[in-house]
Amino acid sequence: MPVLTVERLLSQLGFGSRKESRGLVRMGLVEIAGVVLEDPFQELPVTPETIRVNGEDITTQMKLYVMLHKPLGIECSHNPQHHDSVFSLVPAHWQGMEIRSVGRLDVDSSGLLLLSNQGDFIHRVESPKKGTLKRYVATLARPFEKEQKAELTSGVMLKNEKRPVIARELKVLGERQVEIAIGEGLYHQVRRMFAAVGNHVETLHRISIGEVLLDPKLAPGEWRPLTEAEIASLS
Ligand code: URA
Repeated sequence: MPVLTVERLLSQLGFGSRKESRGLVRMGLVEIAGVVLEDPFQELPVTPETIRVNGEDITTQMKLYVMLHKPLGIECSHNPQHHDSVFSLVPAHWQGMEIRSVGRLDVDSSGLLLLSNQGDFIHRVESPKKGTLKRYVATLARPFEKEQKAELTSGVMLKNEKRPVIARELKVLGERQVEIAIGEGLYHQVRRMFAAVGNHVETLHRISIGEVLLDPKLAPGEWRPLTEAEIASLS
């Protein structure tokens, strides 16, 4: 492990490149424990719990559990290829705290996305063995037929998968609108399931993960911390 210096810590916390981080120190904008730092190369034998940058206290060891209302047209990646990243919607210094999305939503899906920097939490919620239910509202290109419901609720085989996948719950909301719950989180799973029964998903919106519901107060692009009860319900 390289020695932790002030410039490295600032950069890890998302305050820009090492050069930009050095600039912050040289401008006298960085304090640890009430002392304004002068040397960006100062070594830090232990990571301080907080560092003050431009008047704001930044916690370096915060446990992050966040719900985001993911808008359409945004990628769930730290290195997006064609669109903005969901991580551009949350404070930049969280990137240095190893924040990740818990599972993914496609670029053209919207709704509830959880973010965290706690590996055990992420692993639990993602685990197909645990089978936490993810609920979606799918709007379809064609009317939803009874036979499609029967196939989805008894299990469909998707290309390149070893086992059939099943709609664990399915509610018909309208002629072309269905609420569906799945226990896994395979690549494009819901879209592939509807395609496998001869329909096509036009829009897909995730409304819940386990007992955690997308907060109706969050507009697309907004986030809030999960409550203790929400975290506990996923544990
Ligand atoms: N299933 C999909 O097909 N897409 C998503 O974004 C989520 C589940």
